[in-house]
Amino acid sequence: MAILVTGGAGFIGSHTCVSLLETGHEVVCVDNLSNSSRTALDRVQAITGKTVKFYECDILDKPMLSKVMRENAIDAVIHFAGLKAVGESVALPLKYYHNNITGTLCLLEVMGEFGVKKIVFSSSATVYGKAETVPLTEDMPTSAYSPYGQTKLMIEQILKDLYVSDNEWSVSLLRYFNPIGAHQSGLIGEDPRDIPNNLMPYITKVAAGKLAQLSVFGSDYPTPDGTCIRDYIHVADLAEGHLKALDKVRRERGVFIHNLGTGTGYSVLDVIKAFETANDIKINYRLADRRPGDVTICYADPAKAKKELDWEAKRDIVQMCRDAWNWQKNNPDGYGD
Ligand code: NAD
Ligand code: UFG
Repeated sequence: MAILVTGGAGFIGSHTCVSLLETGHEVVCVDNLSNSSRTALDRVQAITGKTVKFYECDILDKPMLSKVMRENAIDAVIHFAGLKAVGESVALPLKYYHNNITGTLCLLEVMGEFGVKKIVFSSSATVYGKAETVPLTEDMPTSAYSPYGQTKLMIEQILKDLYVSDNEWSVSLLRYFNPIGAHQSGLIGEDPRDIPNNLMPYITKVAAGKLAQLSVFGSDYPTPDGTCIRDYIHVADLAEGHLKALDKVRRERGVFIHNLGTGTGYSVLDVIKAFETANDIKINYRLADRRPGDVTICYADPAKAKKELDWEAKRDIVQMCRDAWNWQKNNPDGYGD
């Protein structure tokens, strides 16, 4: 039986494909390559010495998804496919609702038709909205402040409702904190198409001389150094979390919600310093205005994942910074396409 990975050519998906293959799973991947490259999967195969069966397929394309289901014995689905740029989702809400929500509905309908009822879904810490207290626990109230965040909340709800309607479903909702880093080989990593929105890819592009200066968005927040605090997690740890979640949905039926974070918060200036120290490189930065929509502090309580999934993050911020730079250094133009 194989695992179907939607969005498997993307940043988190490609690292999860490596973990799946290394633990002996058969992997079938669908991706429309709207934000990724086929090369990522060639690299996954180079790292593992194993094959990923790839379909260039949009999850909105139900006939094609049905063909994938017919041609493969799929046991469970890990669903990464989606658009993820918060700012773009504010400008283009219909694009985000259509791709993420309608796409997920198409996927779930086809899964149901083929009796595949186990799914691990990429949710996000964004569903905690502007929470007043940290660390964030899974039972805290949820809300969304962008169309992107709304899509995550709505898909969580759709999956909960699906389970209520049919208890044969088994659903894992993984709320990721801030994934950074890259595979230690330097062969796969994060490859943003345009100027990066996120902190770590921006830092690595400044380090590589491809961007002149990093703007630190806000230095007057009520935090020790005035900059926002986040829970950065190594993408390889995140990938391993998916294996544990997969075990869970294969063993038990229900809806399981888990934070995937380290439980430690770092400020923007902490990350810059950690990157400089880990890689012996100076980052040119300036303190700039706040970025609209940013929450001040966001970090996980990861205890539930430890207790119920037997998972915890192992890699520290130094390794995250080293691996992110190793990927950028070895691949100055990302996957080159
Ligand atoms: P990514 O853009 O690298 O990967 C997403 C993949 O999905 C891409 O390969 C893209 O081509 C594909 N895709 C998008 N729409 C598709 C469609 N309609 N049909 C088929 N393929 C489609 O992003 P990522 O960082 O790997 O994120 C993976 C998932 O995790 C996303 O759902 C994202 O929202 C979620 N997430 C990411 C973060 C983060 O900071 N990276 C944080 C929380 C949650
Ligand atoms: N930042 C800068 N300069 C930059 C980029 C980011 O100072 O050039 C700061 C941001 O203001 C924020 C921190 O670095 O304080 C982290 O920003 P990211 O954009 O890397 O990450 P976010 O926490 O804003 O967003 C991430 C994911 C979203 C998800 C959100 C909440 O990218 O998908 O976490 O979970 F919705």
